[in-house]
Amino acid sequence: MHVPDIIIAIDGYSSTGKSSFAKLIAQEFGFMYLDSGALYRGVTLYAVEHGLIDERNVIDTAALKDALDTLDLHFADGHEGGNTFMGERCIEKEIRSLPISRKVSPISALPEVRQFVDRKLRELGARKRVVIDGRDIGSTVFPDAELKIFMTADPQVRAMRRMKEMQGKGEKVSFEDVLENVRERDYIDSHRKVSPLTKADDAIVLDNSDMTLEDQMVWIKKLIAGKFGNE
Ligand code: DC
Repeated sequence: MHVPDIIIAIDGYSSTGKSSFAKLIAQEFGFMYLDSGALYRGVTLYAVEHGLIDERNVIDTAALKDALDTLDLHFADGHEGGNTFMGERCIEKEIRSLPISRKVSPISALPEVRQFVDRKLRELGARKRVVIDGRDIGSTVFPDAELKIFMTADPQVRAMRRMKEMQGKGEKVSFEDVLENVRERDYIDSHRKVSPLTKADDAIVLDNSDMTLEDQMVWIKKLIAGKFGNE
């Protein structure tokens, strides 16, 4: 289908399948996929590897701020390990590890880090034909994005998906623990001081509790045809 040169912003709760949906959109429409969370995770990896955050999550903000001036985080295709790079090095695996996941919240709460990520995303988004997933893309990073989607799903459904994903990786977890973690992350994401998760006024809600990925593609294609059909 013909899709005009637009920015698609996808925000929403954790474990709603934002990145799977965004990746499929990018593939089907020939858009570039920008994973904003991967940039926050990349900065976190840098901070951890350079001893700029300690075990009590105390951050050497001045040193990290200096490092951001020259930190080369970018996306590149063609590497089987994934597409997030720090300089020449593919960092996809490291940024998804538990130690990094545990430190990314305090790092992503720093205003300097948010400015760094926002600037990068805006540079990449300027050429349009991008789909970006995150928490504050439609509300803060690209308030003028032509299409904004806010993803949500029943916490029980999200916990079940997350549990299966974790079990698939060989981790033993109980449903109750995963559900509690989903609820806790919802609370932290929506109540933090800096750029909390909020639905932009003009975002369209997608509740995918009972939808497959294919159903969601049908949904967005209809939406685009209705909104931009005559362009
Ligand atoms: O989507 P993710 O789990 O990879 O995101 C990693 C962290 O980065 C998560 O704790 C929330 C934060 N994040 C953010 O604050 N703003 C965004 N636009 C994307 C992610």
